[in-house]
Amino acid sequence: MLSVRVPATSANIGAGFDTFGAAFSFYNTFEFDETENGKLTIRGVGKKYQDKNNLVYQAMQKVFREVGYKPRGIYIHEHTDIPVGRGLGSSATCIVAGLVGANILAGSPLSMDRLFELAVKMEGHPDNVAPAFFGGLVASVMTPHKTFYIKEDISPQFSFFACIPDFKLPTVKARAALPKSVPYQDAVYNIGRANMTFLALSRGLPELIGVAVNDKLHEPYRKGLIPHYKEVTHTARRMGALNSYLSGAGPTIMLIAEAKNTAFPDKMGRWMAKNLPEWDFRRLKQTDYGVAVKEVGR
Ligand code: HSE
Repeated sequence: MLSVRVPATSANIGAGFDTFGAAFSFYNTFEFDETENGKLTIRGVGKKYQDKNNLVYQAMQKVFREVGYKPRGIYIHEHTDIPVGRGLGSSATCIVAGLVGANILAGSPLSMDRLFELAVKMEGHPDNVAPAFFGGLVASVMTPHKTFYIKEDISPQFSFFACIPDFKLPTVKARAALPKSVPYQDAVYNIGRANMTFLALSRGLPELIGVAVNDKLHEPYRKGLIPHYKEVTHTARRMGALNSYLSGAGPTIMLIAEAKNTAFPDKMGRWMAKNLPEWDFRRLKQTDYGVAVKEVGR
C-alpha cells in the first residue's frame, strides 16, 4: 500500500493573486491500494464523500484515463488534518494525492510535470497545487499549453501564523465577490508588490514585507466576507507582525512575523484566545518539500 502526504498551502500571499503559493508543514495523508474485489472503498471521510464523486478518486481517474490503466478495485484512506474550506489548500491535497497515487499504482507512466499540468487543469489555477507538488514558495504562469513555475525556499527569518475562523468560505463565493475588471493603477500597485514579496520572502528581507505584502486585486473585495478581519489584522500589526494577508480565497488570515520576534506568538495567541476563542490560532512552519510518497504495510 502507498502513503501519499501532501502539505497545506497558502495561496496569493498578498499581491500574488492566483499565481503565488507556499507550502507549510501541516498535512493531509492518503493511503492507496489496488484491490482484487472490483470495488471502490473510501475510508476516513463522511459517507457522502465515499463514492465516485470523491475528489481524490476523480483525480485518480484522470491518470487512469490518460494512460489507459484499468485497476480492479481501489482502496483510499484519507487522514485529513487540514480544515476544509478555509483557504489552506485542502482540495489541492486531494487532487495532488489522487494524481500521484494513481500514477504509481499504474506503474509511474507520467512525469511529475505532466501530473502538475493535470492538477492545474482540475483546480483551475496553479497557486495551491504548485507548492503542494514542489514545496517552498512557488510563482506560476499559466499558458494555454503549459504552466511554468519558479520555486524558491522561504527564508527561515520569517515565521507564519494562521488565524483560522470557525466557518468556511467557499472559493466560488469569494470569487463571486471580485469585480470583472480593476483600475489600471491597482494592477500596477500589485505588479511591484508581487515582485517584491517573492524576493523579500526568499532572500529574507523583513523590512520590505510591510509594504510588499499588500493587495488591491482581491482582498479589498473579500474582507467584508470575513467578520473580525480588521480587528485581527490591525491587532497583529500592533503586536509586532510584519504584515498579514488573506490565505487563498480566505477565510484564514495569515500573519507574517520575524522569527526572532519570539514575543509575538504569545501576545497574539493570548489576544486570539481571549477575543476569538472559537478560531484556531497556530504557527505554520514553511517547508521546502512538497508531496511525499512511501510504501506502507496494510
Ligand atoms: N487564488 C484563488 C483565489 C484561491 O484567491 O480565489 C486559491 O486557488
